[in-house]
Amino acid sequence: MATATSAIQPEPSVATFVARKQKMLINGKWVEAASGKTFPTFNPATGEILSHVAEGDREDIDRAVKAARAAFESGAWSRISPSERGRLIWKLADLIEKHLEEFAQLESLDNGKPLCIARAADVPLTVDHFRYYAGWATKIEGNTIPMSFARPGTYHAYTVREPIGVVGQIIPWNFPLLMAAWKLGAALATGCTVVLKPAEQTPLTALRLGELILEAGFPDGVVNIVPGYGETAGAALAAHMDVDKVAFTGSTEVGKLILQAAAGNLKKVSLELGGKSPNIIFDDADLDAAIPGSSMAIFFNQGQCCCAGSRLFVEKKVFDRVVDGVAQTAAKIRVGPGFDPATELGPLVSEEQLRRVCGYLDSGFKEGAKAVVGGSRHGDKGYFVKPTVLVDTRDNMKVVQEEIFGPVVTAIPFSEAGEIIPRANDTMYGLAAGVWTRDVKKAHSIASKIKAGTIWINCYNVFDAALPFGGYKQSGWGREMGHEVLKNYTEVKSVCSAL
Ligand code: NAI
Ligand code: MG
Repeated sequence: MATATSAIQPEPSVATFVARKQKMLINGKWVEAASGKTFPTFNPATGEILSHVAEGDREDIDRAVKAARAAFESGAWSRISPSERGRLIWKLADLIEKHLEEFAQLESLDNGKPLCIARAADVPLTVDHFRYYAGWATKIEGNTIPMSFARPGTYHAYTVREPIGVVGQIIPWNFPLLMAAWKLGAALATGCTVVLKPAEQTPLTALRLGELILEAGFPDGVVNIVPGYGETAGAALAAHMDVDKVAFTGSTEVGKLILQAAAGNLKKVSLELGGKSPNIIFDDADLDAAIPGSSMAIFFNQGQCCCAGSRLFVEKKVFDRVVDGVAQTAAKIRVGPGFDPATELGPLVSEEQLRRVCGYLDSGFKEGAKAVVGGSRHGDKGYFVKPTVLVDTRDNMKVVQEEIFGPVVTAIPFSEAGEIIPRANDTMYGLAAGVWTRDVKKAHSIASKIKAGTIWINCYNVFDAALPFGGYKQSGWGREMGHEVLKNYTEVKSVCSAL
């Protein structure tokens, strides 16, 4: 494993932004927390404090919900023309694109991810996502319904999709800007108003996005952004009696808490939770594609992807070759600070995440797993973990069952196609899966039997704003993206008129 060196410097605008004390966005104004408190956000490459951010709590959430409610009821957003809504969302996309480099740098500093990845993936995908939903603003349609019991011409019945109202959106730290876009795109297209709570580890790009939302000219209170901790600000948002819907991405554990909190006013809930996705390589696969593809499936974003291909099942005949190939790839990955142009794998997001991932490695070794490559922390400054391939696991080990959310894959041999389905499905999760084979029939047969919201065939981690994403089983409720997500943000009204 190589260690990268010679980091570049942040742009002046980024340095100024980071140095500033960050406020929260409520009703179109940047304000301090009601308590006056702030919390630090850290640079994961060094462990040093990057910025101080206003610490939202119950009172701030309440103020933000009131602003979102007033903006919703005024119709300033939900009752303007859909074209106008679409135009503003598109304008926001243009502004983000104009500031692409700045967003990429901020994201890399706050989250740790390689700058080149933020430039090539996080920010452009965010721009594309907003453009995709700008288009949807004018296409939210109902149906005309022929009544079944009545003669034609006696009733006129139709459905309308109306915005659900005030939505609370709680987002994670692994793709901070992109996850904000996933949540905001659909809410804005449908005419909802929003209180967004970024993750406490990575609030900066959401706050910069807030500045562009004001610059684009969204009416006050349509988007409110309240940074703060999960147990305080997040919990207050999930429980708020005047929030109509909460959308959450994060751990399955917290997903269940969100659900309980939502029970108070039976607000609608959508959840995008964890995963432990099987990535299956058959012996007839194109290994020249499957090996790098499966390495990227786990090591992309330091393994901090809910859909990471973390259980690599390989047919016995090619097991040694694949494991050797993935291990060689892992050994060559350049680990270093996100700002180093040579870096391919950055630090994990936080000290907590470093401890969690190292804890899983210890647990795996205690239960008898072996690391073919990696297996420990990298360096002693920052939150780096070496890309790791574990073998000699059993299907009931913690490292095979639980989401590690780090650059750690378990490689598991299997003998034949019949055996793989029950093993692939043997977790509480059902978010994604990968299948590598040249046999089209086998690929689609496996795809039909795996209980997961996304199946990638001869590819992995391919996302598109148009393609729904979400989980079976304990990986979540509902889907994000595509037209599917619009259901999460609309109520259906049936109107029936006697003629
Ligand atoms: P988390 O689920 O605690 O955090 C996600 C978001 O939820 C953050 O904005 C956080 O502030 C908020 N939150 C936390 N507790 C809350 C509560 N009681 N009420 C309302 N909001 C709350 O995730 P954490 O602790 O950062 O990471 C733990 C594990 O979760 C990771 O190791 C990983 O396995 C999983 N995870 C999955 C993600 C995904 O994309 N599905 C993203 C982040 C974490
Ligand atoms: Mg947590």
